Amino acid sequence: MKVLVTGGAGYIGSHTVVELLESGHDVVVLDNLCNGSAKSLERVETITGKKVDFVEGDIRDRSCLDKVFANHEIASVIHFAGLKAVGESVGKPLEYYENNVYGTLTLCQAMASAGVFRLVFSSSATVYGAEAPVPYLESMSRGSTSNPYGTSKAMVEKVLEDLCVADDRWSVALLRYFNPIGAHPSGQIGEDPRGIPNNLMPFIAQVAVGRLKELSIFGDDYPTEDGTCVRDYLHVVDLAKGHLKSLDKLEQPGVHIYNLGTGTGFSVLEMVESFQRVTDVAIPYRFAPRRDGDLPAFWADATKAQQELGWTAEFSLDEMIADTWRWQSQNPDGFEG
Ligand code: NAD
Ligand code: WQD
Repeated sequence: MKVLVTGGAGYIGSHTVVELLESGHDVVVLDNLCNGSAKSLERVETITGKKVDFVEGDIRDRSCLDKVFANHEIASVIHFAGLKAVGESVGKPLEYYENNVYGTLTLCQAMASAGVFRLVFSSSATVYGAEAPVPYLESMSRGSTSNPYGTSKAMVEKVLEDLCVADDRWSVALLRYFNPIGAHPSGQIGEDPRGIPNNLMPFIAQVAVGRLKELSIFGDDYPTEDGTCVRDYLHVVDLAKGHLKSLDKLEQPGVHIYNLGTGTGFSVLEMVESFQRVTDVAIPYRFAPRRDGDLPAFWADATKAQQELGWTAEFSLDEMIADTWRWQSQNPDGFEG
């Protein structure tokens, strides 16, 4: 039996495929390559010494999904495929709802037709909304989201909960990621954003490698210790391992919600200073106005995943940075370089 990984050619997906293959799972990847790279899967094969079954296709394409389920014996699905740029989602809500919501509905319909009822879904800490107190706990209700990307994640969570109420053959893990960074310690795969990076760590890494001139730090007057925003950064390999642990949980029907974070926050300035210390590369930066929609500080309460899945993030911040740098310095132009 195989695990279908949608979006497996992307950043988190490719790292998860490595962990799946290395722990003996058979894997099929479905990805339309709109933000992923076939090269990343070749690199996954180099790391693991195993062949990756890859289908280039779209989760919105029902006939493509039906073929995948007909051609492979699939026991469960890890569903990463979707669009993820918060700012872009404000200008392109239809694209975001179509990929993230309609795409997931189509996937679930194809799964049900094929008799596959085990799903791990990539959700986000953003579903807690702007008013939630920190640290975020899974028992808190979803809050109001401030952009179509976040709303699409909250909508899919609700759909999947309703599905589990309607039909007890379904078992679904909703994994709420905090801020994944880092790269595989081999330096072979990592985050390779198209265009100017939206997220902090790839931006810093591209400044370090000389692709970008300087970092703009969005806001220095937040109510935090040094005035810059605080986030819970976790290593992408730890995050990938959390998916394997949650697959085991799908033995039990119903919805299982987990925060995947370290439980510790770091400020933007701490991230910049740590990067400079670990890599010995200077990161020129300037303070810029706040970015719309940013929250001052949030991090996970990661107790539930520890107690119920036996999962804890193990990599330190220095290791996350060292691995980011190994990837970026060995692949200054990403996979296409
Ligand atoms: P990514 O863009 O690197 O990977 C997503 C992959 O899905 C890409 O390879 C892309 O080509 C593919 N894809 C997109 N739409 C598709 C479609 N309609 N059909 C088939 N394939 C499609 O992103 P990532 O950082 O690896 O994120 C993976 C998932 O985790 C996403 O759902 C994202 O929203 C979620 N997530 C990411 C973060 C983060 O900070 N990276 C945080 C929380 C949640
Ligand atoms: C981190 C901090 C910025 C870039 C986003 C999504 C979230 C999830 C993860 C998908 C913030 C600051 C950033 C820069 C900066 N994604 N920053 N200069 O905003 O916490 O989360 O990605 O699900 O849903 O919202 O992450 O990496 O964009 O920002 O100062 O050039 O770095 O203001 O304080 P964020 P981020």
